[in-house]
Amino acid sequence: MWLVPLLLGAFLLSSPVRGSDGSASTAITCFTRGLDLRKETEDVLCPANCPLWQFYVFGDGVYASLSSVCGAAIHSGVITNAGGAVRVQTLPGQENYPAVNANGIQSQVLARWASSFSVTRTKNIALEAVGRSVSTARPSTGKRPKKPLDKKAGNKDCKADIAFLIDGSYNIGQRRFNLQKNFVGKVAVMLGIGTEGPHVGVVQASEHPKIEFYLKNFTATKEVLFAIKELGFRGGNSNTGKALKHTAQKFFSLENGARKGIPKIIVVFLDGWPSDDIEEAGIVAREFGVNVFIVSVAKPTTEELGMVQDIGFVDKAVCRNNGFFSYQMPTWFDGSSSVGDSNFRLVLEFISNVAKAFEISDIGSKIAAVQFTYDQRTEFSFTDYTTKEKVLSAIRNIRYMSGGTATGDAISFTTRNVFGPMKDGPNKNFLVVLTDGQSYDDVRGPAAAAQKAGITVFSVGVAWAPLDDLKDMASEPRESHTFFTREFTGLEQMVPDVIRGICKDFLDSKQ
Ligand SMILES: *[C@@H]1O[C@H](CO)[C@@H](O)[C@H](O)[C@H]1NC(C)=O
Repeated sequence: MWLVPLLLGAFLLSSPVRGSDGSASTAITCFTRGLDLRKETEDVLCPANCPLWQFYVFGDGVYASLSSVCGAAIHSGVITNAGGAVRVQTLPGQENYPAVNANGIQSQVLARWASSFSVTRTKNIALEAVGRSVSTARPSTGKRPKKPLDKKAGNKDCKADIAFLIDGSYNIGQRRFNLQKNFVGKVAVMLGIGTEGPHVGVVQASEHPKIEFYLKNFTATKEVLFAIKELGFRGGNSNTGKALKHTAQKFFSLENGARKGIPKIIVVFLDGWPSDDIEEAGIVAREFGVNVFIVSVAKPTTEELGMVQDIGFVDKAVCRNNGFFSYQMPTWFDGSSSVGDSNFRLVLEFISNVAKAFEISDIGSKIAAVQFTYDQRTEFSFTDYTTKEKVLSAIRNIRYMSGGTATGDAISFTTRNVFGPMKDGPNKNFLVVLTDGQSYDDVRGPAAAAQKAGITVFSVGVAWAPLDDLKDMASEPRESHTFFTREFTGLEQMVPDVIRGICKDFLDSKQ
């Protein structure tokens, strides 16, 4: 008997984007990104002495278009930090951008981005021009040259006051909360935060909303990233509606840094689990003139759609929708679908390897599998397959479900529906609960009931599964019935111990 919890969902954010200022310029700043350039192929001039540690560069050789052009040029060895001329070639988007440390710059991993660029040397720009560009770029000259993107000022074409309303409830759990933080951080990097550009703040929704920081607190990307990193998971029920209302009413005041005449935006994170009344909150937000965007693990329900003030907002706002800001996060794992898929495969492999140890027949061992999220699905029951071959094939064919983690409900479901029909049989009953996250519901009661019904419970936790929960679910002696590994790859090593544990209990019960 296996419970496999489920943690993934498609995740699509559509949001305002920066437009371009229309002027093509060859002198760029340290922070001009590929997506700030307008032409397919463009010759640009990088200044000298860019602060290397401030570069955001994604990829190696082929760079995601949100990377700094000069950063990419230094990373790839086309120029040094003395600046110089660079030819930028627009390329199609890639599935993956690797992280590589080169020439003093650590590039970052990014999954699936809409467009890319490469950088090569240009020979037809005189070095003298480089020198000139550098000297005019010095603040000491008193006059600042007009630049396409000034790091401190931020993206002037995307003036907006934005609140990220993130989910800090038990439904999302600590693990996905961290992924959410990463996601918000990535969005913050792309926005071009600055004194004249977008300002952002964060509100955490859980039992009670908590404004983590206001618009006025930070006006530089680096500070915002740091503040996001520091956010602590609060836990509690999902009260997104309450938090949305609170944010619309309290967050955008002038004393808290909201700017007059600038669009107010709330980006709400929802994981599909029923919350309090968000429709009413959507109306309140509308009354306060706030635009609401939804980031969802599933497509919006009709109720959620009601919150969207104006679906065409994206195309009408100061920030045009040119596609740069469509950011797809295919799974909850870390932005790469392959990670989710391979983790799930490791889970199935673990189940197969344990199953292989038993003689499966209608008079021998029997195996059933239940997959759960908030919901439960009996993948196959004890009586469905009576040969090992068929069981292994059925395990291979298990498909990923998406949703959150309700482990308690899943144990009750399994006790009732899967073990229930077998309870007068001669077999000894074992339940192995496999989870990689915090359960939103109580696990103790259901696990105690299962044990009382004669089922020996083993708990196997991966990654963010809290050890206390694992111990609470497991049969006595808890130490020998609880297993944990930080990485999915560690599951394989636990196979012999789990098998030994089951066999020992089986033999003990025969004495
Ligand atoms: C944000 O600013 C307010 C008022 O200036 C201050 O009380 C608060 O501590 C600041 N928050 C952070 C996270 O810096």
